[in-house]
Amino acid sequence: MAKIENERQVVRSNVDVVLCDIFREITQRKERGQVAAYIPELADVDIESFGLAVVDAGGKVAAVGEADTPFSIQSISKVFTLTLALGRFGDRIWERVGREPSGNSFNSIVQLEFDRGIPRNPFINAGALVVTDLILSGHEPREALGEILSFVRGITADSSIRIDETVVASEQRAGFRNAALANFMKSFGVLVHPVEHVLGVYFHHCAIAMSCRQLAKAGRFLAHLGRDPSTNLMVVQSERARRINSLMLTCGHYNGSGEFAYRVGLPGKSGVGGGILAIVPNVASIAVWSPGLDVNGNSQLGRVALEMLTTRMGWSIFGNFQ
Ligand code: DON
Repeated sequence: MAKIENERQVVRSNVDVVLCDIFREITQRKERGQVAAYIPELADVDIESFGLAVVDAGGKVAAVGEADTPFSIQSISKVFTLTLALGRFGDRIWERVGREPSGNSFNSIVQLEFDRGIPRNPFINAGALVVTDLILSGHEPREALGEILSFVRGITADSSIRIDETVVASEQRAGFRNAALANFMKSFGVLVHPVEHVLGVYFHHCAIAMSCRQLAKAGRFLAHLGRDPSTNLMVVQSERARRINSLMLTCGHYNGSGEFAYRVGLPGKSGVGGGILAIVPNVASIAVWSPGLDVNGNSQLGRVALEMLTTRMGWSIFGNFQ
């Protein structure tokens, strides 16, 4: 027993040392990508910001940098809406959205016409709009949004999590591309609810603000077969947790998903706020934040930090190498 405890100590101090090394390295980097200027409010975020938090299986948190500063989770919210929709509708959701990587940008419209309005996967914007439409079933927009926010607060055990209304207003003013996607899908009969309701709920859930620490906590059920180890409650069936992880791996970084799998080796979901949620099955949930994005709209240094972390810790779903 003592030996195991000692080994745990070693692993634990490793994470802390590795996080400090990553922090030192990342803060020195000059090439940080570009902030998401198409949502004007996100263009004002300090590109030098950086935070990283890791929650292990026992619930211990290791963190560096601005790990307690809330940022706009944007597309990472699509993991939570997918989880909710799967819980409510099960496999019927796959009648309205696919499960294949798109190979196009997150807000692309080109494929939708070929696929008769059925989006390739739930993480591209079109797919997430369909998931939001599903969550609206039997609800007023306010209730649907309440359900999403309660879910996120529940899995983090943190009722302080809020929606940033300034970001909502900013995206609502400039969200022409999403409006086009929603109207296009509506014309195919793929969206059931009024376009403005779907867009309204979607913009709001994208504007949820969370810190790395909160986000890493929120991802724990995905690292532990659907169960939140802090409460021991099943958030989602274990089979579904596995499947959400598989979609995060294949589609979570849009047309950068292959590169992310190659370099980081974990299921991950990015957002244009510069956050990434990454899952080490059975081991840890990780959240990183660096607002500068690469050409695919994924956090440039967030990915670099995760690559350093998984390499140093030997964390990869393709083979644990330590
Ligand atoms: O719909 C949008 O464009 C944003 N609210 C979310 C996009 C996003 O986060 C893509 N992720 N990297």
